[in-house]
This record gives sequence, C-alpha cells and structure tokens, in this order.
Amino acid sequence: MRVPIIAGNWKMNTTAASCADLCRGILQGTDGVSGVEKVVCPPFPFLSIARDCLKGSSIRVGAQNVHWAEKGAYTGEVSHSMLAGLVEYVIIGHSERRAYFCETDETVNKKVAAALAAGLKPIFCVGETEAEREAGRTEEVLLRQVRLGLGGIQVPEGFAIAYEPVWAIGTGKAATAPMANEAIGLIRAEVARLAGAAVAQSVRILYGGSVTPDNVAELGSQPEIDGGLVGGASLDADSFISLVRQTAEAAAAKP
Ligand code: PGA
Repeated sequence: MRVPIIAGNWKMNTTAASCADLCRGILQGTDGVSGVEKVVCPPFPFLSIARDCLKGSSIRVGAQNVHWAEKGAYTGEVSHSMLAGLVEYVIIGHSERRAYFCETDETVNKKVAAALAAGLKPIFCVGETEAEREAGRTEEVLLRQVRLGLGGIQVPEGFAIAYEPVWAIGTGKAATAPMANEAIGLIRAEVARLAGAAVAQSVRILYGGSVTPDNVAELGSQPEIDGGLVGGASLDADSFISLVRQTAEAAAAKP
C-alpha cells in the first residue's frame, strides 16, 4: 500500500516567528499520527527554523524550489547541494513557478534530475490550465508534462508527483474527487509507460488545488489519490492537523 503525503506549500507566507509557531502547532497535533507522511515547505529563509523546530519528529521539511547547478553565477538561486542535509523534500515545477518565473518542462526536468542526484525527494508538479481543460487538452498536457519532466530520469520507488490543475489553485474551486482521480490515473499510466508498472504502482500522486478539511476525506478515499499538496489550508495548524488525520483515516479504510 502506498503511504500518502500531506505536504504544506507555504508559498511566500509566514514570518520567522509564525513559521516557528506553525511548526510547533503541527508537531503537537500530528507527530503521533502514522500512516501518512507529513511535510512542511516554508520559504527558504525559514527552512532552518523549521528544521530545528521539527528535529527528531516525524514531520519532514521541504523547500519550494531548487536550481539544477551545484554552484555558480546564478544570482538569487539556491542549489541542490545547499538544500541537501537541510531538507528532505523539494517542490519542483509548481504552476506558479511555470507561470511567473518562466519554468519549462526542460528546466523542470533538469531540476528533478539534480534533486534526485543530490538525495532530495522531489514533489514534481503537473497540471492543466482552465483553457487547456476547456479545449479538451487535459490528457495531452498532463502526459507531455510527465514525459518531458521525467525524461531520462530513473524514477525511484515512492517518488512523489502532485497533480495540480491550475484553475483549482487558490480559487476555492477544487476538482471533484472523481475528476482528480481520473487525471491521476492518466498520470500513473504514463509513469508506467516510462518506468514500468511496479514503479508506477509505488509512486505517490497527490492532488493539489483548494484542498481543505471539508474535501480532503473524499479526495483521499479515491483509489488513485495519495494525499495532497496544500497551500492556503496548510497555513493554519488546526486545519493542517485535520488534513493529516483525515488522510490517515481515508488511507486506512482503502481496500
Ligand atoms: P491551494 O494551493 O491549496 O491554496 O489551492 C495549492 C498549491 O498551490 O500547491
């Protein structure tokens, strides 16, 4: 059985103090909850704060981006070797990075490869825009993103992918559970073509886009959905705790 993941993408939010408070709150409410991996992804300047607050606990820390080069003249960037040892996970190819910071399938591919080589665990994001869905291009877009993003990469067992339809992010308009399940099934089938059936069955594919304590149980009970990548609802400790607990319950109830 795949262990689901609840990952909080804090984006460009929190302060040093609120990051520490949030980590402590999440730690108190979820450290003992098993059957689900818990990950928090604060902004770069607060990663070591989160790491210190969560040291020795079951809660992992992730970054929100990484550069593929090890070092060099890349003003403002952070390399995989700087993150290795500081965090376990790293979000790669989030649609906000693709839309606002010119990330492409090719740069995302380089980042995934570099992160894996450095021993980091990517949370590789894919998802269609509203226009692409309305034009009937969802499958084509998702398969292209998976194929190019993972091209030439030996996908390890348990690898994490997040399916995040762009129209659902931060809008309060989540995909329905069957819709998300169907898209994730397409992604898993493409991973099977690239990496084989056994790896595809082990890969955790999260849903992201307006996940809240009100819809997480239904999403998490779908056969293909292995947890969530959560923005807004991960910025409140009680809400994050509820997401983790409900996800663990939904996973335990799966056949
Ligand atoms: P949201 O963001 O939960 O606020 O919609 C999800 C994400 O962007 O990862």
